[in-house]
Amino acid sequence: MVNREDIAERKSSQDIVNQLSVILRNAQIHDPNNIAVVTAIERFIVLINPLVELERTVALELIGEFFYLDGVRIRYSLEYLLNFDFLIREFKNREIGSIIFKDNITADDIKLFLKAFIAAGFSEDPYDKMSEIMSQSHRIEVDRLKKVKEGDEVDVRKIIKKTYFNAVSYSKGVMNKIKSGEKVNVKKAKRIVETMVDQILEEEQLLLSMTAIKDYDEYTYHHSVNVSILSVALGQRIGLSRKVLTELGLAALFHDIGKIEVPHEVLNKPSNFNEEEWKLIRKHPIWGVRSILKLRGFDPVTMRSSIVAFEHHLQYDLSGYPKVRDYKELDFFSRIVSIADQYDAMTSARVYSRIPMTPDKALSLMIERAEKELDPLLLKFFVNMIGVFPIGSLVMLDSKELGLVYESDVVFVDRPRVLIIVDSKGRRVKGPVLSLTEKDKYGRYLRSVTKTLDISKYKINLAEYLL
Ligand SMILES: [Fe+2]
Ligand SMILES: [Fe+2]
Repeated sequence: MVNREDIAERKSSQDIVNQLSVILRNAQIHDPNNIAVVTAIERFIVLINPLVELERTVALELIGEFFYLDGVRIRYSLEYLLNFDFLIREFKNREIGSIIFKDNITADDIKLFLKAFIAAGFSEDPYDKMSEIMSQSHRIEVDRLKKVKEGDEVDVRKIIKKTYFNAVSYSKGVMNKIKSGEKVNVKKAKRIVETMVDQILEEEQLLLSMTAIKDYDEYTYHHSVNVSILSVALGQRIGLSRKVLTELGLAALFHDIGKIEVPHEVLNKPSNFNEEEWKLIRKHPIWGVRSILKLRGFDPVTMRSSIVAFEHHLQYDLSGYPKVRDYKELDFFSRIVSIADQYDAMTSARVYSRIPMTPDKALSLMIERAEKELDPLLLKFFVNMIGVFPIGSLVMLDSKELGLVYESDVVFVDRPRVLIIVDSKGRRVKGPVLSLTEKDKYGRYLRSVTKTLDISKYKINLAEYLL
């Protein structure tokens, strides 16, 4: 249970990050003595000093896409989303990994920090400039952002790939076992989901990029794993704890388990379903509950998986299937899984729909359906997470190059990192990976997206580039 103190603490660390962002945003447009900047600094001091007094030193650290205050991850809140994202971007641009506050901070300390921050923004070696100026202060210290080396990135990719395919082969194994009437133990699933949760907390983008690779021969198995990853990633964006994320990931992994009872010929039918076939398909939520209850090792906590299996097609306004009466509302997990499920289904090539929808098209359709079918607030977080150009999208750049979206940018949603696959002369290449936030010395962007292209119209094997 979360108690009142926890909530107060969480709120105040969010406020600290938010207020720091407010100062910096103001300082970029006004001079340091402008009233907006001065007031913002005063507010920040009121927030930080009681904490410094209590803890002696307070460290604000950026790891991946998240801020940590004294080692505790600060949750995103919708209210502060833009300010958070702004600060992450600015930290990264200046290679700042952490700010350490020692002793009671004064307005002059913050002004020095602002001076360093702005000077660093114009410097070729932003971090060096920043720390050079900050060496004049005894109360605020900065530390460099820990960079992932190229070689490290390759290794991390390998580990992530292994986790992903392990999960896919597990879900295949479980379904086959259930089909043949064997007992399935859920302990292994828990371990797999725990690993995925850890990796999403560390390397969200990499694991998300695995879900962009769609393999239609084994759609059902990939789909379960993708929905699990997408659900956990959404769950961490809204600040669910590791333990809750594991329960969520498990529920998502089993959401379609009832499909094993739908006859194979129906499930893999290459044309549209008739009414009889639809009747069978609509039963998979209830069949799912039955299968889950038979699994070994399910405890009261994991029982929530059966609720998700039952509700995942019920929709936000309860107008979906199975038909229910006197039902209050969808379980919170079901609302998350429904979003992940729709997105993955729409963007995958399945037997009856060989051509998948492009990710941006799927998102815009989902936004249209929000309020009725999907929880609108959760969908906002989801869209922000996937980005305007989701990982795996094929984009045309104004430099006449073609690129695959490799990693989304939290702040500049329309300026992701892109892997160049066709150079400006029309030759096939593999790399480099470029950030569309890069500017020339006049402050103009080096490259921008001119349009998204439908990947299914080009002979591009995503796995070749993303794995
Ligand atoms: Fe389903
Ligand atoms: Fe599904």
